[in-house]
This record gives sequence, structure tokens and C-alpha cells, in this order.
Amino acid sequence: MSVAKPLPHDAARLHVTGQARYVDDIPLPQGTLHLAFGVSRIARGQIKAMTLEEVKTAPGVVAVLTADDLPFANDVSPSVHDEPLLSDGPVHYMGQPLFVVAATSHRAARMAARLGNITYIEETPILTIEDALAADARFEDGPRVYEKGRVDAALTQAPHRLQGRIEMGGQEHFYLEGQAALALPQEGGDMVVQSSTQHPTEIQHKVAEALGVPMHAVRVEIRRMGGGFGGKESQGNALAVACAVVAAQSGRPCKMRYDRDDDMIITGKRHDFRIDYDVGYDAQGRILGIDFTHYTRCGWAQDLSLPVADRAMLHADNAYLLPAARITSHRLRTNMQSATAFRGFGGPQGMLGIERVMDHVAHALGRDGAEVRRINYYAAMTESADASGGGIFDPKKQPTLSTEDLASRGAVRASSGSGGSARFGGAYSAVPEDAENTTPYSMPVTDFILHEMTDQLLDTADYDRRKADLARWNAQNETLKKGIAFSPVKFGISFTLTHLNQAGALVHVYQDGSIHLNHGGTEMGQGLFQKVAQVAAARFGVNVAAVKITATDTGKVPNTSATAASSGSDLNGMAVQAACSTIRDRIAACLAELHGCSVEEVVFDGGDVRVGGVQMSFAKAVQTAYENRVSLSATGFYKTPDVAWDRIAGKGRPFFYFAYGAAVSEVVIDTRTGENRLLRVDLLHDAGASLNPALDIGQIEGGFVQGAGWLTTEELVWDDTGRLRTHAPSTYKIPACSDRPAVFNVALWNAANPARTVYRSKAVGEPPFMLGISAHLALADACSACGPHFPDLQAPATAEEVLRAVGRARG
Ligand code: MTE
Ligand code: MOS
Repeated sequence: MSVAKPLPHDAARLHVTGQARYVDDIPLPQGTLHLAFGVSRIARGQIKAMTLEEVKTAPGVVAVLTADDLPFANDVSPSVHDEPLLSDGPVHYMGQPLFVVAATSHRAARMAARLGNITYIEETPILTIEDALAADARFEDGPRVYEKGRVDAALTQAPHRLQGRIEMGGQEHFYLEGQAALALPQEGGDMVVQSSTQHPTEIQHKVAEALGVPMHAVRVEIRRMGGGFGGKESQGNALAVACAVVAAQSGRPCKMRYDRDDDMIITGKRHDFRIDYDVGYDAQGRILGIDFTHYTRCGWAQDLSLPVADRAMLHADNAYLLPAARITSHRLRTNMQSATAFRGFGGPQGMLGIERVMDHVAHALGRDGAEVRRINYYAAMTESADASGGGIFDPKKQPTLSTEDLASRGAVRASSGSGGSARFGGAYSAVPEDAENTTPYSMPVTDFILHEMTDQLLDTADYDRRKADLARWNAQNETLKKGIAFSPVKFGISFTLTHLNQAGALVHVYQDGSIHLNHGGTEMGQGLFQKVAQVAAARFGVNVAAVKITATDTGKVPNTSATAASSGSDLNGMAVQAACSTIRDRIAACLAELHGCSVEEVVFDGGDVRVGGVQMSFAKAVQTAYENRVSLSATGFYKTPDVAWDRIAGKGRPFFYFAYGAAVSEVVIDTRTGENRLLRVDLLHDAGASLNPALDIGQIEGGFVQGAGWLTTEELVWDDTGRLRTHAPSTYKIPACSDRPAVFNVALWNAANPARTVYRSKAVGEPPFMLGISAHLALADACSACGPHFPDLQAPATAEEVLRAVGRARG
């Protein structure tokens, strides 16, 4: 069986030998034009005059277009038509495209783009949270609020209470392959676009709007991206639309790729957040009531900011049962790049808020952080996996997590329904009657496995002993201090916009038994294509080598959702499985009839097909079906069941299930400089019954490092004119190989998903990112070792910030 095997990435060899073809590697037809944007040099104002004579006469320049030259829609927004491709007067951020240059070479286009002579009527930019609040500059009319229980009463009646604030920076995606697109004009006004995008259908849609043609006249293809991380969900629209428009007007192929600096200056990043909290708790550290206020700077256009801010609210609880909670979210409009999707999509920001609260409460009570976290956990899993779903099981991976099982190990605190009352058993009148095992958005948590995972991880990471050792070590060392921290992750899987939870596939089986596989998902390095190929191979009982993975193509599978929300393999895996089943059933019916046996007696296994007593190769079976005029091509479709969500009310079931993880990080800091290192990291991550443990472990390692980077060295700095000062690797520091932890133990919690996903696997793309939070908490712990006060470590915890926190701890 090809599923569950730790096969390498299908293109691993091509990646490391440099043969993998990205958009920029596609051989260009003669006469291809290269595009570059001329961008705004101010953050806010109006264009007074734009003189482009010098641009037009620069060497190699063939055409220069402004907003007036665009034939149809001047909009590249993925949401509310508020994002002109080229400014039509107003300027909203420094770096906004104002005109586009087409030239005979990439260099000529870039050089010419700098020669624009533009005068502006400048206005004072809205840059900070304070600026935006004062100007009431926001998306949506006012803040969005989710609420559960009687928060104010819980806060006033709680035996203990504290307030605090954490500021967390944004993050540059830093995909190794920058944004790129290539438009190839076809006969009759049709357009083919090669785009480095997570969302080919969106590119098709925006290009069709810009050209004033139906979607059927535009075909978008993408074989792979060199990383997307959410930055290619919507931010590739501008390049693809610009190329298509110039290609349509000139009749020549057009290509555009951003240089790294341009990419950083033009495109949106992760949303930065400020989170204020007010929490009431008891002497053990149990949270009784909490009031969160989120402030996020969304930049100039709406883009995906509303669902990102929603997802931050939906993860404000992380793994913790909050009997009473209010989350207020302000989505602020600022004159900066339009913040966009980035791995976790707001989840990491929401989660860091509550993790900070756990640390603050633990510090105030002088208790261990892991202990305080555990007593606040949701009640354990009440749903157990049943084998009747679509999956095929490895018996070793059958779920062992019955409620009784857990109870016998002391992990279950309460069963569902009585969760709240059993836990709080009349201890405080402040605890409301309805403290059920539900999230602040009233979704019951029925698949919670963190009690067991935490036991296992704290054990394998030797947490208690190391914590004691660290305390002794710290007592003997003045200059260097070490810190250790545990943190859990519970991440909701599904698009919160319910209709996006669908996928399609197209599978052909050729006469020789080889299989052509296509689906709506895109490959960005995460290994989706290999996982889905494994599903297809398993359906036909053949080796994955028999399956040809092909480029994502809007002409093959239409109306796709972005490959995002970690749901690529959940959605496309199921759609492919359905398509393969259709073909397999047709072959089986044909053979059964020929051999006079029942369909059940036709078995596909080990590259062979057995029909009653007869055995033949899969190729022979296919050939026979072909000769009997059986269709060997099928589409497949899947939609996630059971999800329904009202984002305005903040109620419903936005997620099909949760993915879990747990991390222990240990760090050392230099208290004179703030410099620090990750010494050891232990991760235990839940990938369900893994489709491919090798790829999943890769996602977990990469996710952790990227998450730790966000909260440590990666710092975005805008100056007070709105200029992004960190626009190249010289000033923006992502983790390097040498920054990974010296000891890095990564294990899979390999148990079947109780929800009926493909082979009972779980989505794994984003959740491990949030394991990186433990690195930040460990740094805070090390700062705590310097003095009696709460170090109040902000994010990113750069060396400078660690140094400041050391000072605060000392008082
Ligand atoms: N892994 C690699 N190597 N490159 C990427 O760009 N993107 C992440 C994650 N892992 C990414 C990655 C993000 S933001 C998401 S949503 C998922 O992969 C998308 O793919 P999936 O749905 O197939 O997991
Ligand atoms: Mo991922 S941020 O959902 O592309």
C-alpha cells in the first residue's frame, strides 16, 4: 500500500539538481516582453502629475501603461474590489504600483521604472494603531466581538485578576522563489497564464475581468512554487493581470517577476497584532474569565484581512477551556502594504495571546507554566474513530483513545456534557452553569487529545528533570541564563468561508496502465502532489511510479479553492480518491462480467488484478477494459461535511476537526547582549494516520523553524514616513541552517483522525508553525531567571528585546 509510506517528495531530485522548473525557468518565446512596476515614493496622498517621458524613451522600453490605459477592470483584490492594479489617483502606501513598464529585458524594465517623474499632494499617513484608532480607519464598521458566558461577572468575582499586553510583529514570507507570472496570448483573444500562485482560479478570474473576457478564455497553469506560505494566495494577482493586459494589447508574451526588494516593498506580509488581556483566575491558575482585545494593522486594502482577523479570534482559546470569554477584534486600515495570508492565517497571533496569558498567570502564582496550561485544557476526547469511514487502516494505527482508556490513565477530567461542572464542581460561584466543553464560538470540542500527547512529550523531553537542572544551572551562572517552556497547539481545520471547502480531480488511465493525475491543489514544496499520488496509487493497488503528477490547470479542474488552510490533502486527496474509485469500479464491473464472477471478487493489489482465480497485471486489466469500451477517465469531487459557520454571530462549527501538537523548547541567553540560541527542541505533532510520515515530519520541522523565526529574529521596521526599512535579507533576518536547534527531536502522534478524512490523516501544513511559540516562551523563561519581575517579553524577541526584558525582570 502506497499510503502511509515515508516516500520522498516527488520532485526532491529535481529540486536538488536544479532541474525543477519554476515559472522563471520556462523557456520564453521570441519577442517576450518583461514587465516592471513604477511604484509610489510616498505613503499617502494624491498623484498631482505623472511625467513618464524618460521612462518611455529609456533603452529597451516598448510600452508604458497607467491606469487610464487599462481596458477593463482595474482591480486585483481577492475580496472587495478595493485594490487597483495601478493607482487611479490616490496613493495608499509607499511601494504601490502606479505604472507598468514593458521592455525587452527584465533589467531594462526595472531600470526604466525608476525614471518616472511623479509629483504628489502629500497627506499624513496612518501608520500606527493609535493613528488608525484616532482616524477610525478600519475595515468593517466597528470591531467584531465573540462572546461566551458572563465575562464581566467572571472577572469581578475571580479571586485573582491581572492585565497585560503583548505586541507581535508581522512577518515577510520570504518564499525562495519570488512572485512571477508569464502570459502567453493565444488566437482569438484567449490567454494562457503561467503563474506562481496558490490560487489558479483566482488568477483566471482576475485576468478575465481585466481583459473583459469570460473565464473560459483564460487558462492558468502552475506546476510548482518555490514556496508560497500564504503569500501567493492573492499577492500574485497583480503580476498575472499586468502581464495579461500588456500581452493582450501588444500581442506579445509578457513576463514579470519581482526582484527580492520589490517583492518585499510591494507585497503584503503577516498581520502584526497588539493583544490586550484582562484575566480572572483562581489559586491554581484556572482561568475563570478573560477579555481579549485584538488590534491588527491590515494595511491599505482589505485583501484577506477579515478572515485572518476572524481566525485569530477563533484561536484565542488555543487548547484551553475558557468558561467566560470575550474577544474584540479591531481591523485597522493603515498606509502600508496590504497584510495577507501567512501560514496559520491569524491563528498564530490569536494563540500567542493566550499563551502569554498562561505565562503571566503562572508567573504571578509562582507555578510551572506546563502545569497551569494542563489544568486549563479542554476535557479529553469523547469521539472515537470508527473504521466505517472512507479510509483504509493500518491496524497499528487504529485509535487507542477510547474515553475509558484515557480515564484509566487519569487523563480524562470530565466527559462531555458534564465537562464544566465536573471540573469546577461548585468551587466558585463565578463559574457559570454553561461551562461546557465548547470554544468561545460555541463549537463543542470532541476530539481533544492533548492530555495524552502532553504526558508523552513531557516524558520523552524529560521536562521535569531538565527544568530542575536549569534552575540549578541558572543559580550558578550570572551571565548566561537558560529557559525552558512547554506549549500546546490546537488548530482548526477547514476554510471558515464554508463554500471553499470543496475540491475536484481529473484522472485518466491510459491503455498501458499508466495513470495521469490532476487535481485542484497546488504544489509549493509541502509535498501535496506526492501525498495525493499515493492516494491514487493505493486506489488502483499500484506503485506510485505508475502515477504521473501533472501541473495544476484551470482547464482540467475548474472552480478550485486556493491551496490554503492546510486543507490541500484533505480536500484534493478525497476528490482524487473518488475519481479513482469511479474508474476502478468500472474496470471491476467489466472484468467481473467477462469472468462471470461478482465485482467483490475483483481485487486490485500489488500492481496486479485478481479476478476470481485469475491473476493479471494492472496494465492487462486496463487493456481489457479499454477493448471492451469502458471509459477510463473520470472526475472526482469532494465537499467537507458538517461545517457551518456564521462569522457575524461568531457561532457554529467552522472546523471539521482540530489538529494538535505540543512542543518543549530550551534556550540560552546572554544577559549582557540579549543574544540567544535554541539548545533543544522536542516536538510531538498530530498528523492523524499520516499519509506520508517523511513529508509530515518535514512540514513539522519547517513549520517550527518558521514560527520560531517569526517570534525571534524576523523584524519588520517601517519608519515614520511609512517606508519599509527591512526590504532585503541584509536587514531582515530569517532563520538560517545554523539557527535550527542543536538537538531537534520530532515525533508524530500517529493515530487515526476521528473525523472521516482521507485515510484518517490530518492536515499538517500550518499547525506546526505554532509550535514555534514555545521558543518565545522559553526566551521569556530565561529572562525570568534574571529577576523577580514579569519580563513582559514582546515579539519578535530580537536580541535587543531580550535585553530589555532582562532589564524589566530585574526591575
Ligand atoms: N510548506 C512548504 N514547503 N512551502 C510552503 O509554501 N505553505 C504552508 C504549508 N506548508 C508551505 C508549506 C501553508 S501557508 C499552507 S496553507 C499549506 O502548506 C498548504 O498546503 P497543504 O494544504 O497541502 O498543506
Ligand atoms: Mo496558508 S496561510 O492558508 O496559504
